[in-house]
Amino acid sequence: MRETITLKPDEMPDAYYNVLADLPNPLDPPLDPATMKPIAPEKLLAIFPETLLEQEMSHERYVPIPEAVLREYFVYRPSPLIRAVFLEEYLKTNCKIYYKHEGLSPTGSHKVNTALPQAYYNKLAGVKTLVTETGAGQWGSALSYAGKKLGIAVKVFMVRVSYEQKPFRKKLMHLFSGDVSASPSSLTECGKRYSTDNPGSLGIAISEAIESVTTTKHAKYALGSVLNHVLLHQTIIGLELKAQCKKADIVPDTIIGCHGGGSNFGGTIFPFFPDKLEGRNIKFIAVEPESCPSLTKGEYRYDSGDTAGYTPLMKMYTLGKDFMPPAIHAGGLRYHGASPIVSKLLHDGYIEAVAYNQNDVLTAGKTFALTEGVVPAPESSHAIACAISEAKKNNGKTIIFTLSGHGHFDLNAYIDH
Ligand SMILES: Cc1ncc(COP(=O)(O)O)c(C=O)c1O
Repeated sequence: MRETITLKPDEMPDAYYNVLADLPNPLDPPLDPATMKPIAPEKLLAIFPETLLEQEMSHERYVPIPEAVLREYFVYRPSPLIRAVFLEEYLKTNCKIYYKHEGLSPTGSHKVNTALPQAYYNKLAGVKTLVTETGAGQWGSALSYAGKKLGIAVKVFMVRVSYEQKPFRKKLMHLFSGDVSASPSSLTECGKRYSTDNPGSLGIAISEAIESVTTTKHAKYALGSVLNHVLLHQTIIGLELKAQCKKADIVPDTIIGCHGGGSNFGGTIFPFFPDKLEGRNIKFIAVEPESCPSLTKGEYRYDSGDTAGYTPLMKMYTLGKDFMPPAIHAGGLRYHGASPIVSKLLHDGYIEAVAYNQNDVLTAGKTFALTEGVVPAPESSHAIACAISEAKKNNGKTIIFTLSGHGHFDLNAYIDH
């Protein structure tokens, strides 16, 4: 029998968990690139609404989820926790493997979890247009969907290599009225610095989005990862997971998430962080591509979040803002930096990071599709590759990973493989 642990709607958490309340060492503050001193929050009001800025800095342990957002969450949440029995049998492992399935959201990934509150708070603040970047298109489609639902226009700069590799992601954004341009584009000064056959990067697309906000009336910027408030919204994953583990008497030994900017990984593990602080032996593993190894090969230092240097400097693991990752299929993991909170936890030894090559990742994703019947996003296949390696240790452990999205628009990745 397939084991699926569900929560009833009234068992879904109604507040996000803020790990900043429990970090043993405070985060280093973001710096103003003009002065190299901690940035004044007012300066960021040009690109973010006040409520999201408050959430970015808040140390309150719990932040209530607005009613209007809960209503939208009920379209696809609580998401199921599923025991991967077929994968276990295939691997002949004595480990238990579970996955938290975030691929059932309206646009197919966890990104909707933060798109909805971001669209909601911007709408409340009177913003008419949200401008953003997207890698593989998961975040752009999530924000287009949330904008359509909550009444706000969305403009997306999509990294060119994914724009060309994943035409149906673009179509999905169009379906929800998102206005999509390939990045680098000729719409911004930053974009014009590159030739039109440049594959692009998330760093360049972020610069283009920020520049475009400053030239568009009543517009603000939205980011799909990295920032504290984004990871805060994603704790809905870990909070549900914790409730599901309690309900089914599951005691996880290892929790795994793929890592691009840190939002699905952070959102999954943060609610378990207090348990680790209390001495529970639990391992958290972030998984990234070997070809874009910010956490495993990057330096822990201040760096810009984008290529043009418009964003505040953040203390994080980084490959350098000009790093140009190769055109791998997991477009959502092609980011030079990482979440400052995830970086701090790694630096202080609370989490681990590993890197896998694309070949092993796609093999793992295919194995998962053939055994469990779910085609994973290539990003999520990184978590699967790690879960499989852990299960092969045959040490009777309980392994949980977040399946951050489905791969129905990424089939070329598996066909080419
Ligand atoms: C399906 C999926 N998983 C993971 C990621 C990586 O982002 P993050 O590290 O913020 O979860 C992305 C980014 O686009 C994605 O689309």
